[in-house]
Amino acid sequence: DGFTGGMIMQQGYSYTYDDIILLPGYIDFPTEEVDLSTHLTKNITLRTPCVSSPMDTVTESQMAAAMALQGGIGIVHYNMRPEEQAYHVRRAKNLRLGFVPEPACLKPSDTIAQVDQIKLNRGFSSVLITENGQIGSKLLGIVTSRDTDFITDRFTELREVMSTDLVTASIDSSYEESLKVLISSKKSLLPIVRENGEVVELMCRTDAQAQQSYPPLGASSLDRDGKILVGAAIGTRESDKLRLRMLAEAGVNVVVLDSSQGDSIYQRQMLAFSKKAYPELDIIAGNVVTSYQARNLIEAGADALRVGMGSGSICTTQEVCAVGRGQATAVYKTASLAKQMNIPVIADGGIANSGHIVKALVLGASTVMMGSFLAGTTEAPGDYFYQNGQRLKKYRGMGSLEAMAKGSDTRYLGDKSRLKIAQGVSGAVADKGSVMKLIPYTMHAVRQGFQDLGVKTIAAAQDAVAQGRIELEVRTGAAQVEGGIHHLVSYEKKAF
Ligand code: XMP
Repeated sequence: DGFTGGMIMQQGYSYTYDDIILLPGYIDFPTEEVDLSTHLTKNITLRTPCVSSPMDTVTESQMAAAMALQGGIGIVHYNMRPEEQAYHVRRAKNLRLGFVPEPACLKPSDTIAQVDQIKLNRGFSSVLITENGQIGSKLLGIVTSRDTDFITDRFTELREVMSTDLVTASIDSSYEESLKVLISSKKSLLPIVRENGEVVELMCRTDAQAQQSYPPLGASSLDRDGKILVGAAIGTRESDKLRLRMLAEAGVNVVVLDSSQGDSIYQRQMLAFSKKAYPELDIIAGNVVTSYQARNLIEAGADALRVGMGSGSICTTQEVCAVGRGQATAVYKTASLAKQMNIPVIADGGIANSGHIVKALVLGASTVMMGSFLAGTTEAPGDYFYQNGQRLKKYRGMGSLEAMAKGSDTRYLGDKSRLKIAQGVSGAVADKGSVMKLIPYTMHAVRQGFQDLGVKTIAAAQDAVAQGRIELEVRTGAAQVEGGIHHLVSYEKKAF
C-alpha cells in the first residue's frame, strides 16, 4: 500500500517526524511483550531508549539519576566549571536507589511562608526541620501540608506546627529494610539518619508506591559496581581535556562531544585524544545529519553518533546558518550508514510526543535524546514560576544569548571574536510532574505504537523497515491537520 523507507527518503525532501506516518502491521501479541531495550553506544546497553540532553535547563545530577532509574541515561551539561560538573556526576553516581538525596530542609525559626515558597519553587510539600536548616544537620521534626493547611497566619514559626513524633531509619539499612520501616510506620516520609541523629536522605511513600507500579529498581541503568550510569558533555577545546580528566575521575560512564556540527577536525582530534587517554570510556560524537559526516566520525572512533541539526525546539541554527536537515530524514540517512558499521544513532531534538519517539526508533535510531520533553519536570534544574495561572519552568537553547553568556558558546565552536551569534532562544515550558511518571507513561505509549506496527523490538522494527515490511507515507498538510486534534470548540471550565 505504502512506500519503503528507501523510496520515501530518496525524493529530495527533508522530512520531519510530522511529515511522515507509519502504516500499521498485524498484532499477535500484547503490549507488555514489546521490549525497548537498546544500545546507547557500542558498549553500553539501556532498557529504556531515552537520553536527557546536556542542557543547563535539563540535566544535572537529579535528572541524570532519575533517567538512569527509569532505565535510560542523563548527560550532564557543561555550562559550568569542570569541578561542578564532576560533582554532579559523582552525586548522581552515588545516589542510593529509591531515596531522595536532597530533601528540602528548614530550621525551627523559619516560617510556614517559607514552606509555601519551597512548594512553589521545588514542588515539595513536605519539609524536614533540622537544627541549622540544612541537610546533614540534626533532625528535629517534619512539616507536611497537614501541619499547615488550616493555619491562616503564614508567618507562624515552624517550631509551633512541626510534628516531632518521628520514625527514622539508619543510613546503614538497605532499601528493603527501610521500606519495611516506612510501611509499618504508616507515615508518608521516612528520614534516613546517621547514628548521631543527622539526617542525610529521605524515603517517600509515594515514590515507593510508584516504584512498585513502574519498572522495578532492577531495570535501572547501572554499571558493573551497581552504581548509576551517568554521562557528561564536553567541548573540543584544549581546556576540555582537563574537564574530561575530572569527569573520568568522577566515574563518568560515557562522554558526549557536544557540537552543533560535529564533522570537524576538532572532534577528530578530541576523539583521538580521549580514545588514547581513556580507552575504556565510550565517546559519543556529533551532531551529524548526513551519511558522509557519520562515516567520518565513525572512522575517527566514535562509539555512537548524535544526530540532528536545527531540529530542536529552541534551535535557530537552520534559520541563522541555513544548514541542517529535517530530523526524520537525518535519522534515516545516518542510521542506514551507521547500522552497517555497527554504531548506534541517538536521535537528538524535535521530540514533542511519544509518536515522534516511535518514528525515530523505527527509522533507525537506537535512542532518542530529549530537551524540551523533559524540561519542566521536577528533576530539571531551576525553579517553577507562575504565569497566567500556569506553572512553568525555564527552558533555553545552549546557543541562546542567555546560555552563551555563561560560557556555552563552545558548542558552536565559538570563534575568538567577541561577537556572539545566537543559534537558539530562551523560553519556558509547562510543569510536567516527575520524570518517574512521565517516562513510564511515555514508554507505554511507545510500546503501543510498536504493537500497532506488529513488531516487538527496536531491531525488529528497523529490519522490517529495511525489508519493506513496515511501510511509510508522507502526510499532506491536510493529513497532518487530520492526524491532530481538530474541529473542537475549546471551552473554559467554570466553577458553579
Ligand atoms: P528538543 O527539541 O528536545 O531539542 O528541545 C534539544 C536539542 O536541541 C539542541 N540544542 C540547540 N540547537 N540551538 C540549536 O540550534 C541551541 O541553542 C540549542 N540548544 C540545544 C541540542 O542538540 C539538544 O539536545
